[in-house]
Amino acid sequence: MRDPGAPVDLYRLLEATDEPELIDREIPESAEILELGCGSGRITHPLIALGRRVVAVDFNPEMLELIEGAETVLSRIEDLDLGRTFGGVLLMSTLINAPEEMRLELLRSIRRHLAPAGIALIERYDPDIGNDPTPTERHNGAVTIRVSEIARRGHLLYQTVEYDAGTHGNWRIRLDGRYVVSDDEMLADLAATGLRLLRWIDERHRWLAAALV
Ligand SMILES: C[S@@+](CC[C@H](N)C(=O)[O-])C[C@H]1O[C@@H](n2cnc3c(N)ncnc32)[C@H](O)[C@@H]1O
Repeated sequence: MRDPGAPVDLYRLLEATDEPELIDREIPESAEILELGCGSGRITHPLIALGRRVVAVDFNPEMLELIEGAETVLSRIEDLDLGRTFGGVLLMSTLINAPEEMRLELLRSIRRHLAPAGIALIERYDPDIGNDPTPTERHNGAVTIRVSEIARRGHLLYQTVEYDAGTHGNWRIRLDGRYVVSDDEMLADLAATGLRLLRWIDERHRWLAAALV
């Protein structure tokens, strides 16, 4: 199985920004972290460098081959049932931005793997994303990321993301109606899966911390 939005060669080039420090701050110090959708280890490896223990899950074996220093599990997040719980569970990269049925499956997986005093961290789109159609450009290491052809129709986000790494490659990914989850839907989804909001972490509500009810 593959995620068309996550080419392996691109993810090898992308670097972490402030995410590892945010995660390290929010998840209790002694907690082992279950990272759902770890990709190439862009976040896994800095977390390990910060002294965290990580179990890394992905459904793409080519991604898992790039992980060093963590236990790896090849699985769809929805099907994962490790029979053990973690002090921290991480679901990043806007995987939660999906239709309701998929969101609930992802959250149930978090619920199954979260220890009683554990903290789940979820990264999602800013609920206002796409309302401003102005193209943007930013840099991540050697990669220039340009977002254009932006539109928002109701809950759905349309945009083209170009990752330009010069001689290393160029990837153009069209998001053709990614589901943008509102704050109210997020709260309802958490309640429906036995979870509760602990706090929104940032002003734009892109990151949230959740715990068991
Ligand atoms: C956009 S990449 C991001 C990887 C990493 N979280 C990061 O921030 O660098 C998303 C990763 O999640 C994996 N993925 C997507 N949906 C998944 C699912 N349902 N179950 C398991 N892995 C999934 C993809 O294979 C990909 O490696």
